[in-house]
Amino acid sequence: MATSWPGCRNMLCLCMLGLSSVLTIATAASATGGGGGGGDEAALLAFKAELTGGALTSWNGSVSFCSWEGVSCTRGRTPPRVVGLDLLKGGLAGTLSAAIGNLTFLRALELGFNWLHGDVPASLGRLRRLRYLDLGYNAFSGEIPGNLTSCVAMEQMLLDANNLVGRIPAELGNTLTQLQVLRLGNNSLTGPIPASLANMSSLWHLALGNNQLDGPIPPGLGGLAGLQISTSP
Ligand SMILES: *[C@@H]1O[C@H](CO)[C@@H](O)[C@H](O)[C@H]1NC(C)=O
Ligand SMILES: *[C@@H]1O[C@H](CO)[C@@H](O)[C@H](O)[C@H]1NC(C)=O
Ligand SMILES: *[C@@H]1O[C@H](CO)[C@@H](O)[C@H](O)[C@H]1NC(C)=O
Ligand SMILES: *[C@@H]1O[C@H](CO)[C@@H](O)[C@H](O)[C@H]1NC(C)=O
Ligand SMILES: *[C@@H]1O[C@H](CO)[C@@H](O)[C@H](O)[C@H]1NC(C)=O
Repeated sequence: MATSWPGCRNMLCLCMLGLSSVLTIATAASATGGGGGGGDEAALLAFKAELTGGALTSWNGSVSFCSWEGVSCTRGRTPPRVVGLDLLKGGLAGTLSAAIGNLTFLRALELGFNWLHGDVPASLGRLRRLRYLDLGYNAFSGEIPGNLTSCVAMEQMLLDANNLVGRIPAELGNTLTQLQVLRLGNNSLTGPIPASLANMSSLWHLALGNNQLDGPIPPGLGGLAGLQISTSP
């Protein structure tokens, strides 16, 4: 689709209406990959230890961790592995434990609309099966870890409405080739829009507005098939 860029300046919003982020978690998975350390239960307990919030009261020893609120596991695999963690609007406050990177079967991590602060852990880069990452509408600070470029299965990455600073990792578009939705708006990001984003051939929704990005819009970005782009004030 041909696209023009009337009056594009520092404040930039590229977006498409009608985002629908329904994600289906199928049952899993290959039998490869070890539990690692204390296993998924230990990683979940380390995650819980840095948080307060109502959704976690069910996270106790009375039932298997696969029955804890928001947790989805593989079926028919011993031991079971966590494939989904959905605590969207979970009333959580605190920091995101680096132990999250031990949940190596995780496909969907949904922590949007909570009160999480501190860094986005670089250990997320260990999640090679992760397709859906929603950390939007929290209070995360620091930079977007370059290690996220290792999440090669990523399809939707929502980091919008936080306090993130620094640059968008330059290599993002060259490694996250499956990415369809990228939301980084409403942060304090600086520097250029990486030219590599034009290499994301599946991208159809890109929201970067309300940052302090500068530099040109990379040539080729408007040429992505199916990407609808509009600027906003
Ligand atoms: C995470 O994995 C590392 C490496 O396998 C291990 O040393 C550590 O104890 C694990 N952490 C938790 C909380 O399970
Ligand atoms: C433990 O979790 C169960 C639900 O899994 C809940 O009904 C129970 O109240 C919890 N116990 C405590 C002490 O919070
Ligand atoms: C980040 O990635 C680098 C390079 O792959 C790796 O050496 C490092 O251990 C990763 N950091 C974490 C916290 O996983
Ligand atoms: C896009 O990918 C190709 C092939 O991997 C690479 O040679 C090129 O440098 C990339 N373009 C940008 C702008 O990063
Ligand atoms: C920024 O946040 C406002 C208020 O939530 C929202 O309406 C707007 O779409 C957001 N912009 C971007 C680019 O995410």
